Amino acid sequence: PLVTSEELLLDAQKNGYAVGAFNVENMEMGQAIVMAAEELNAPVILQTTPSTIRYASVEMYHAIVETLAKKASVPVVMHLDHGDSYDLAIAALGAGYTSVMIDGSHESFEDNITLTKNVVEQACAKNIPVEAELGKVGGKEDDLDGGSGGYTDPAEAKEFAERTGISSLAVAIGTAHGIYSGTPVLDVERLREIRKVVSVPLVLHGASGLLDKDIIECVKAGICKVNFATELRIAFSNGVKHVLTETPDVFDPKKYGKVGREYVVEAVKTRIRVCGADGKA
Ligand code: 13P
Ligand code: ZN
Ligand code: NA
Repeated sequence: PLVTSEELLLDAQKNGYAVGAFNVENMEMGQAIVMAAEELNAPVILQTTPSTIRYASVEMYHAIVETLAKKASVPVVMHLDHGDSYDLAIAALGAGYTSVMIDGSHESFEDNITLTKNVVEQACAKNIPVEAELGKVGGKEDDLDGGSGGYTDPAEAKEFAERTGISSLAVAIGTAHGIYSGTPVLDVERLREIRKVVSVPLVLHGASGLLDKDIIECVKAGICKVNFATELRIAFSNGVKHVLTETPDVFDPKKYGKVGREYVVEAVKTRIRVCGADGKA
């Protein structure tokens, strides 16, 4: 069934695991993510960024995910990832998304609070939870260039969570979107400090390319949702490329779409296990 992220993240927080949140670009990736979650009996979050939404629409992705969720044996969330404006958050809520992120991390502290509060107010009226971000996750996500620097300050995080009324908070502790060129150094001590003073579930962005042990350590330190995007885009494309390289005269999209889908199922299963979400549905 299609559910909100609130109940899933609170259960994860209570029981010391993290829900995997996976970016979906097309129907095949959506199918793959839900198939993997069902195989492992895990709750799962499917999410779309603004650029993905520009590729199709909130209505399109919501329809795909809702259709999958209705038949799914596990709880499925449809989440707006890195919502970059009040209007997009409202559009996602209108389309039936069951969770939204408003990312005001590129704004000043006060402007981030104002933007986030405005979205929380609208989402609250529909009982939809809101994720926000404080500090800067590195790398380039979509059109938002996080740049370097800007780790989340624990005291600011506490004030931010209390003043905005958010349901979850994305923190910057050294992860970056995309694949890492070097070895990322994560400030897990900072994460523990944030966890001590912030009561809502914490979210880790930029998890593609992280070592299993780093993700496991972050989950132990209080992360309840882990975002994976790049790894799935690579997996799907590798599956498609494999078919088109081995059999260049294939012209039926189903032929390579199916293999792309299979590659994504494997990638998602691996990460659900690392998050400890298998068997938690
Ligand atoms: P990756 O692309 O590093 O997996 O980051 C995903 C993410 O944070 C989506 O919001
Ligand atoms: Zn992200
Ligand atoms: Na990454």
